[in-house]
Amino acid sequence: MSKTINWGILGTGLIAQDFAQGLNILPDAKLLGIASRSSEKADNFAQKYQVSRSYDSYQALAQDPDIDVVYVATPNYRHKADCLMCLEANKAILCEKPFMLNAKETREVITLAQQKKLFCMEAMWMRFMPLIQKVKSIIEAGTIGEICLLTADFGYRANPDPQQRFYNLDLGGGALLDRTIYPLSLAFYLLGEPQDVVSQGVFSETKIDEQNALILRYPKGQLAVLSATLKAQTSNEVVITGSLGKIRIHSPFYRPLKLSITQLPQPSTSGDSSSSLKQKIKSALKQNSLLRKLALYADLYDLPLKRKNTFQIKQIFSGNGYNYEAQEVINCLQTNQLESTIMPLNETLKIMEIMDSIRHQWHLIYPQEQ
Ligand SMILES: NC(=O)c1ccc[n+]([C@@H]2O[C@H](COP(=O)([O-])OP(=O)(O)OC[C@H]3O[C@@H](n4cnc5c(N)ncnc54)[C@H](OP(=O)(O)O)[C@@H]3O)[C@@H](O)[C@H]2O)c1
Repeated sequence: MSKTINWGILGTGLIAQDFAQGLNILPDAKLLGIASRSSEKADNFAQKYQVSRSYDSYQALAQDPDIDVVYVATPNYRHKADCLMCLEANKAILCEKPFMLNAKETREVITLAQQKKLFCMEAMWMRFMPLIQKVKSIIEAGTIGEICLLTADFGYRANPDPQQRFYNLDLGGGALLDRTIYPLSLAFYLLGEPQDVVSQGVFSETKIDEQNALILRYPKGQLAVLSATLKAQTSNEVVITGSLGKIRIHSPFYRPLKLSITQLPQPSTSGDSSSSLKQKIKSALKQNSLLRKLALYADLYDLPLKRKNTFQIKQIFSGNGYNYEAQEVINCLQTNQLESTIMPLNETLKIMEIMDSIRHQWHLIYPQEQ
């Protein structure tokens, strides 16, 4: 029988509640403790999600010897302090994204986790969703050929109240750490480490980056074009285009339910009758403008594309999706692995380094860095 993993959560906000529900469906997980800065909030949370131990300080939860792993669900600016405190208390950690505010903090936390031989992972739940895993395997199987281009956007309207975390620079607000990190992490997962990044950021009155766009260039000449905004709802889709086809991850791409895969026909080398017929129709279309307009209207002009082969993969995921990252942590703890192969620490660090370099382009410094 596999060991039940006892969880504790720091913070009682929105994501902590989602995560508690995600844990609830996992047979090997027990949510044993909840910690808040307020005993009332901790007690309410404990009652709502059937948690047997509630704490009015994060420190007290970290000291509970029965807790195996702590999920850090506090605002970005305090991830470092909260994670270091848990590691010092010999707890494994799953820390919400962005793992830290910057690469320096990330190195500090990873170093302590490695010194203490404790499990540590960024809670980039998107990577563990079944259809994201499917996209990875489709690409690795060569179904769409060599990847040329990845485009992704991530945008929802965020609460502009400067007391809330999105528009508050002191809390580590802004689109880069909150939104862009998702397409950036996905591009990293599918294409590897970029060689170069150029970007533009647009700032709010509260000095957070309200929206941004990035172009990443990879060693083999691939490009990723990513954008994110706190101001509006975008299509929230990803399209990965390769030499033999493309994959569309339908909205919401970070928690997908549907993929469309299009395979383009291979260029014919045999000069068979169907390809010569195609040539004849094409040249007729070229010569006759009326025919061409009709064909365009009917979306027939690009004959090879008309013969493309599109199929869809739909998959309902279990729970609310947060259970998949939690299950990964449980698997790693049960098999004594100190990090996940799906969200390894060196990738978390490299992604933080890329975000540092983007902020450098914008001259954006968080108050904690001054
Ligand atoms: N993976 C995802 O899908 C996802 C989605 C949303 C957010 N996140 C990440 O999760 C973290 C929390 O986001 P959230 O949306 O849950 O935020 P939230 O609703 O504002 O909750 C944050 C919690 O942190 C605690 N906290 C500690 N110090 C605080 C401070 N100075 N100000 C405000 N709250 C403070 C509070 O709990 P107590 O008062 O009980 O101590 C609060 O409820 C962020 O890092 C965010 O980027 C991830």
